[in-house]
Amino acid sequence: MTQNKITVENIRAMKARGEKIAALTAYDFPMAKLLDEAGIPMLLVGDSLGMVVLGYPDTTHVMMEEVEHHLRAAARAHPRALLGGDLPFRSYETPHSALRNAQRLVTAGAEYVKAEGGRTILAQVRAIVSAGIPICGHLGMLPQRVLEEGGYHVKGKTPSERRDLLADARALAEAGAFAIVLELVTPPVAKEITEDLSIPTIGIGSGAGCDGQILVISDLVGMFPWFTPRFVKPQANCGEQIKLAVAAWKKSLG
Ligand code: KIV
Repeated sequence: MTQNKITVENIRAMKARGEKIAALTAYDFPMAKLLDEAGIPMLLVGDSLGMVVLGYPDTTHVMMEEVEHHLRAAARAHPRALLGGDLPFRSYETPHSALRNAQRLVTAGAEYVKAEGGRTILAQVRAIVSAGIPICGHLGMLPQRVLEEGGYHVKGKTPSERRDLLADARALAEAGAFAIVLELVTPPVAKEITEDLSIPTIGIGSGAGCDGQILVISDLVGMFPWFTPRFVKPQANCGEQIKLAVAAWKKSLG
């Protein structure tokens, strides 16, 4: 057993202490191990893996088997960090399928699952929580709805969007979610939700007022240089470094 394993309770306690929660995605063994060694307390095998690892145009193509495969790899790192897995598109359409697929992710190594949506998926959230599986909500821009919404749009700009986001966040917290990702929510609304809830909010492109921040690791370290979201400031240029290393090795062959 890894020493001082981080639990859902530890993540919740970070909010209570006012300690910022740093969360990152990881899709395999070496990355989970590196991020764990760097002291990141919360990891996610996100369905973003479909875009930044598997080459799909969006996350709607990701299958349960693909998340399970990558979760098993990340879990083999036995991170101290809390390790989660995303429920992919259409894997939680009913409480029954949500629970069955959440159990599959737990079997693959997830210590929490994440699902997109608010009041429309409350029965699914309750079924997962009742089975003792921690769940993280996801509100704001929902990547699994990109085809329906025709793009990745910022949420919370209108009074009705603000009201809906607040009502969804409160409903998820009441249903037992231990944290909520807020993606592309206007910073004032993300801050308002954060102050309203007793569970942590983890922002992505939603300003500094959230309890924590999550990024796709490939964006943070420049491993997917063909597209970088505007809210990410890459801290490394791994793609360029790989090309330079390979070119140097090729040249050394003479
Ligand atoms: O799929 C993903 O990686 C995510 C996070 C970026 C929140 O949902």
